[in-house]
Amino acid sequence: MNSQLIPGLGPAPARPDAPVLEVRGLAKAYHGQSVLKSVDFSIRRGQVKAVLGPSGSGKSTMLRLMALLEPADAGRILLDGHELGGLGARGKPKPERALARERQSIGMVFQRFNLFPHLTAARNVALGLTAVKGTHHRDAHDQAMAMLERVGLAHRAGHYPSELSGGQQQRVAIARALVMNPTVLLFDEPTSALDPELVGEVLKVMEDLAEDGMTMIVVTHEVRFARRVADEVTLFDEGVIVEAAAPDEFFDNPHHERTRRFLSHVH
Ligand SMILES: Nc1ncnc2c1ncn2[C@@H]1O[C@H](COP(=O)(O)OP(=O)(O)O)[C@@H](O)[C@H]1O
Ligand SMILES: [Mg+2]
Repeated sequence: MNSQLIPGLGPAPARPDAPVLEVRGLAKAYHGQSVLKSVDFSIRRGQVKAVLGPSGSGKSTMLRLMALLEPADAGRILLDGHELGGLGARGKPKPERALARERQSIGMVFQRFNLFPHLTAARNVALGLTAVKGTHHRDAHDQAMAMLERVGLAHRAGHYPSELSGGQQQRVAIARALVMNPTVLLFDEPTSALDPELVGEVLKVMEDLAEDGMTMIVVTHEVRFARRVADEVTLFDEGVIVEAAAPDEFFDNPHHERTRRFLSHVH
């Protein structure tokens, strides 16, 4: 395949084992309730990390903070060693323009697709390019078509979300994230809102991306996917990371009682 169509394969880092995205001491509270308690998490270029955990444990919050969709209370977010979000020069909050530019590096795919209902698939995918990157319409359309092709939906480019299945809508949402050429792609339970028979087509697209070297953090309940595709699996509970290990070890020989208890419910 054309390597220009593979996002996330930016220039090689200075140290190949250095994390591409790293959070240190990430903390967040809502209404005085601590939701993330000093989380350290990192991912290297080309890695796939699966994040499991019970509902309400803070998984979505971690992804939203990493994607700079809301500010952390404490902690640092580093992309290739450069601090994202937070404070700019002389401790002043960074201007929105700077944050908007930083956000382009971190793509996000949501549980409920979040497509614009009044735009076709192609225009949903092209919108970020024209609105955020200032790409010319014709060029944006061509790039959108290439990404729809990538997720197997070029033939649906002119359809509106309501004319697409849930699985197709989620693949459009993945194309929309990919077209921005993110360094890291975050998935927040991308198949949880889908009918069971539509889950496979979305997981297949994600597995293909992983094989192409995309760096991905995937919050999911799909244990088989995590075992097959992830390099590492992490269990979140009550705002902390309980356990992180290679899939075989995580699923077959978990060290923590909490992990065993969680797995007894999802297996
Ligand atoms: N915007 C918000 N305002 C208030 N509470 C929130 C908000 N977002 C998340 N929470 C709370 O934070 C906790 C963690 O939520 P979340 O990160 O969505 O967990 P998960 O994705 O693991 O289910 C939950 O108790 C949730 O109710
Ligand atoms: Mg969630």
